[in-house]
Amino acid sequence: MNIEKNQAARMAVEKIQNNSVVGLGSGSTAAIFIRLLAEKVKKEHMNIVCVATSIKSGELGSSLGLKVVDIDDVSSIDVTVDGADEVDYDLNGIKGGGAALLFEKIVASKSKYNIWIIDSSKFHKKLGNFKLPVEVIKFGSQRIFDCLQEMGLNPTYRLNDDSTRLLTDSSNYIIDIDIQHVSDLKSLSNALENLTGVVEHGLFINICNELLIGGLKKDIKRSE
Ligand code: A5P
Repeated sequence: MNIEKNQAARMAVEKIQNNSVVGLGSGSTAAIFIRLLAEKVKKEHMNIVCVATSIKSGELGSSLGLKVVDIDDVSSIDVTVDGADEVDYDLNGIKGGGAALLFEKIVASKSKYNIWIIDSSKFHKKLGNFKLPVEVIKFGSQRIFDCLQEMGLNPTYRLNDDSTRLLTDSSNYIIDIDIQHVSDLKSLSNALENLTGVVEHGLFINICNELLIGGLKKDIKRSE
């Protein structure tokens, strides 16, 4: 799948224009894009300012010589290139496999254009193969867990290798839920947002403008 991730990242980097503000996604595919972007910026002496969706991506970009600034230092982002965990035929997706969904959604919402780069195994007719991450504040999180259990969504806290609970870049927990049997994603999204203590979830609906799929070498634009 690395070859496919590479192909998708290459397709994306070709689309980056000089004098633009670029959002750097998170995860292994986005990391390939960041490396390719740094090479292109150097080679073509481009003027690019970047905003990162995670501490890790920001550090990677800076270490490669990209100019990475705080999100509040830019008025808008021209294009963000990010990975995804699963994408459906309507270009809706699940993100947050790397626990960066909160910053990813904030950066996406400040971006004029969002490009996702994936390998072909992640492109499905219906979402649900991948567990949906829900980011919750630590305080009282068991109540949200119990609620998700009652909703039949089989919640599990995301753990580190040493079995402690994983903390996001904002020091929150992630609860992963099973949405295989959910048909109305918009209602689920609203229901999750209405639970006090939920900070964000990894359902990205109507956010991706263009999907680049390695392997299939497909470039799909959202129809408006
Ligand atoms: C990070 O939180 C995620 O949303 C990633 O974009 C997603 O997990 C894709 O990661 P890979 O490119 O490593 O598969």
